[in-house]
This record gives sequence, C-alpha cells and structure tokens, in this order.
Amino acid sequence: MKDMDTQGYTTADGRKIGGVVMEMKNITLRFGGVMAISNISFDIREGEIRAIIGPNGAGKSSMLNVISGFYNPQEGEVIYKGQKRPQMKPYQVARQGIARTFQNIALFEGMTVLDNVMTGRIRQMNAGLLAQAIWKGKAEREETENREAVEKIIDFLEIQHIRKTPVGRLPYGLKKRVELARALAAEPSILLLDEPMAGMNVEEKEDMSRFILDVNDEFGTTIVLIEHDMGVVMDLSDRVVVMDYGKKIGDGTPDEVRNNQAVIDAYLGVAHD
Ligand SMILES: Nc1ncnc2c1ncn2[C@@H]1O[C@H](COP(=O)(O)OP(=O)(O)OP(=O)(O)O)[C@@H](O)[C@H]1O
Ligand SMILES: [Mg+2]
Repeated sequence: MKDMDTQGYTTADGRKIGGVVMEMKNITLRFGGVMAISNISFDIREGEIRAIIGPNGAGKSSMLNVISGFYNPQEGEVIYKGQKRPQMKPYQVARQGIARTFQNIALFEGMTVLDNVMTGRIRQMNAGLLAQAIWKGKAEREETENREAVEKIIDFLEIQHIRKTPVGRLPYGLKKRVELARALAAEPSILLLDEPMAGMNVEEKEDMSRFILDVNDEFGTTIVLIEHDMGVVMDLSDRVVVMDYGKKIGDGTPDEVRNNQAVIDAYLGVAHD
C-alpha cells in the first residue's frame, strides 16, 4: 500500500488518513456451534473509509456488533486508541464516540424525523433530572445546544423538508438517511454503517454515497461500512476486509482485493440482494 506508515498517508484525492485508531486482534465469536467470526484480525485507521464485505452469513454484522459492544467475543482483543478495551456495554462504547446504524432500520416510526434524530444526542445530554430541577438554566442551555446540533445535521443531510414528518410515513430510502442523521447526531469519531444502501434504487445509492463521503470529508469521521454493492464499495472505500464463513480471506485496497483469487472464488456464483 503506497506511502502508508504508522503516521498515516494522503489519498490520491487529497484526504488525510491517520494512524491506527482501532485494532481487532484475533477475534473469535461463536453462537453455540456456529463460528460467526473465526480468529480475525484487522485494523482501522483514523479518517479512513474501511469496508467489510463478504457473502451472506459471512459474519460482517457480527463483526460490527463486536466493535459496537453489542457482542463480546469469546476470544481476542479490541484495542482502541492504543488501549485494550475492557468488556463494555453498547452505551459505554457509544460514549467513547462510536455510533452505528442497523442492517434493519431501527427508528421510532411514530415519532417525527426531528425527534428521532434528537434521540441520537443522548450521549450529549448531561443534565440529569436533579440538575434540571435545581438548575433550570443548565438544562435549557443544553437543550438549545442539542437542538442546534441536530438542525445542523438535518441541513447537512438535506432532510429539512421532512423534519416534522413521522418516520413511519417516509419511503425506505429516506428512513435510511434519517438513521444516518441520528447516528451523526452523536458526533461520533467512528461511524459504523451496516448496509446503508441495501434496498435502495440507483439514485438513492448515489445520494447516500455522496453523504457518506461528505461526512468523512467534512467531519473527518472514520467510517466502517458493510455493503454488498461492489461498485459502491470500490468507489468509496480506502481499504476493504473480505470475510467468508467467519474467516478473513482478504484485506487491502479495493484494487488488491479485486485481484485476490480467494475473494474472486468466494464471490463466484454467490447471489446478493
Ligand atoms: N444472534 C445470533 N444467534 C445465533 N446465530 C447468529 C446470531 N447472529 C448471527 N448469527 C449467525 O452468525 C453467522 C454470521 O451472521 P452475520 O449476520 O454476522 O452475517 P452477515 O455477513 O452480516 O450476513 P448478511 O450479509 O446476510 O447480513 C450466520 O451463520 C448467522 O446465522
Ligand atoms: Mg449482516
């Protein structure tokens, strides 16, 4: 990989990629007899768009769930900012600046877009009930700050026109965008996206690709992305991990991965949605 060292490097399109921010070391995750992840290691650099690809059931979502603290692997270590991460609950991982979207949309259908995006601010809401009772000013100031941050993200993702619409009434593509907005509301330093473009038409995919690139570029957010559409993966990502049956079968730049025989074999004849 050209010019890549421990300090980082600059991409062909001028983006700065930093050093390693997260390291997955020999991760193994079993569900009963199922080996969802089998002794996988890879790293994530600051500011990069890191894709995880592989056929259905390869273990991609499981890997994202390990990163987000939703699953604790039976073996292996997660090193975050140079330190071994102890076993953590998802909310603790979120507090460290790691936000995610889900493969199956998880929004409050009856609530408006604005209120759904506000739920992403929980990490920033510090004034507890007691503080609110005895010191109204602090709570009000926080509320104003949260509103402003959320409105900024709503503008950024171009969903102002639906901010008062209940999510349940939105088409699928826009729901996915609202989910991205909610994740961004947490102002994460690492954003985990599980198939953000699944089920979208070509135009919706182009929009989502542009937003992902803009988030990365404008906020410097590190992005870990699971995606089946190879065109999208090859266009967006700096580096790609390839999984198959719980194992890592490739890791490198899009070009390196595309020419990797094990990857080609795994994909031959495998249908994707
Ligand atoms: N909570 C669970 N309990 C039991 N088995 C699970 C669980 N989650 C995942 N698995 C199994 O682990 C394996 C990997 O699943 P995972 O969802 O990580 O795959 P994936 O690569 O995300 O697939 P897809 O592309 O279909 O989303 C599969 O065999 C799956 O059935
Ligand atoms: Mg999955």
